[in-house]
Amino acid sequence: MPVSWATFGGDLHVEITGARPRQDLEDQVRQAIRDGRLRPGARLPSSRQLARDLQLARNTVAHAYDQLVAEGWLAARSGAGTWVAEHHASSPERPKRLDEPRPPRLDLRPGHPDVSAFPRSAWLAAARRALASASHTSLGYGDPRGHPELRTALAEYLGRVRGVLAAPDHIVICPGVTQGLQLVCEVLRERGASRLVMEGYGHPLHRGLVERSGLAVSTTDVDEQGAIVDDVPPGDALLLTAAHQFPLGVALSPVRRRAAVHLATTAGTILIEDDYDGEFRYDRTAVGALQALAPDHVIYAGTASKSLAPGLRLGWLVLPAPMVDDVVAAKQASGRLPSSIEQLTLAELITSGGYDRHIRRLRLAYRRRRDRLVATMEQMASPPRVTGIAAGLHALVELPPGVDEAETVARAARHGLAIDGLTTYTAPGHTRAPALVVGYSTPPESMFGTALATLRSVVQPRGAG
Ligand SMILES: Cc1ncc(COP(=O)(O)O)c(C=O)c1O
Repeated sequence: MPVSWATFGGDLHVEITGARPRQDLEDQVRQAIRDGRLRPGARLPSSRQLARDLQLARNTVAHAYDQLVAEGWLAARSGAGTWVAEHHASSPERPKRLDEPRPPRLDLRPGHPDVSAFPRSAWLAAARRALASASHTSLGYGDPRGHPELRTALAEYLGRVRGVLAAPDHIVICPGVTQGLQLVCEVLRERGASRLVMEGYGHPLHRGLVERSGLAVSTTDVDEQGAIVDDVPPGDALLLTAAHQFPLGVALSPVRRRAAVHLATTAGTILIEDDYDGEFRYDRTAVGALQALAPDHVIYAGTASKSLAPGLRLGWLVLPAPMVDDVVAAKQASGRLPSSIEQLTLAELITSGGYDRHIRRLRLAYRRRRDRLVATMEQMASPPRVTGIAAGLHALVELPPGVDEAETVARAARHGLAIDGLTTYTAPGHTRAPALVVGYSTPPESMFGTALATLRSVVQPRGAG
């Protein structure tokens, strides 16, 4: 029996499956009235139209309507049609509008930009321009690598700002670095890699997805010069947050950078460079991407999640030429493609200069916030050390002796402040002194002062202050 959609002044799914179509139809209309999908007063299609939609004899529908009118579920008048009777309909609540999950009142967890600073007007204007000039075909599935406009704009931007050697053909757009990493791991495994070496401090989500890809994860320690890369076995891949280690906040030293590039060029190591916040350096010009030193061996990954908003889900990979086709095939197979319109809009924002202007504004704002964080900690009776280079969206606040990390995080929560301890980002087998990873970009500007004051009160050793 056919399965159809019939129009009842809205859509109602009517499925005629049994050998008794009239009974089926009656049952389903009753049920729809009972559970509120058909509300009192809702008009039903004519018996002729519904019979056509459901591929039934008109009489079958007409008899079902007569029965439902006789029972009082429906009302009908000649010339006026058929509708759901007032008195018979139970009226359960309409489906409730789902509220967005409530964010914590104060939030200093790392990983978020100040989303209240999203350049809404510039984005809307760029979207309008992009859509006005987009061809019809550019709204289709398009090139599986991502929109040529965006890949071209990024090739220029990444070369200019991060020194990346990026030909548009080697760029693949994906819904964030997270998916990019997933695709790369999948491809590395297919090409015979068995292990990825990751920094001993990093995002647990990323470790988890690497493991799920079938690659084994081993971790290397991180000191004040960045990740220790000397012991990476030949043949293993290596993931680095070279410009600004997440979460410890150190930069990979020149010696380590050379060692990493040497590994890549001589030992067949594929390097993955996660440049998640590379645009944000406050004390001097940011060190350029490692990728430029060995573009045939380094996969460069970048994202709009820190510069614009994580909700955009836009990231990019710059790949060594021999990997492009495999990564594109994996991306197509995943079925997860970023929205064409968002890609065109970002391309327009970059080429019109709006993206640069936004980054410059944010850089200034985040630099001030970092300075305020440092100053607030310095004013304390026993000041905790704020470590990590002046860059990015987070800093490490080392807790004073006698202050327990987990207890501090719990105390902060009781004061309405969400904060992460370093333990959250520590891989098994690594240990460091207790610390908080403070994401100073997370709160909106209006809440930043209160968030800092609360932080200060909760990192105070007991009895001090
Ligand atoms: C180290 C690191 N890399 C990359 C990202 C960005 O991931 P995505 O582009 O999937 O939002 C994050 C986000 O928190 C991160 O912490």
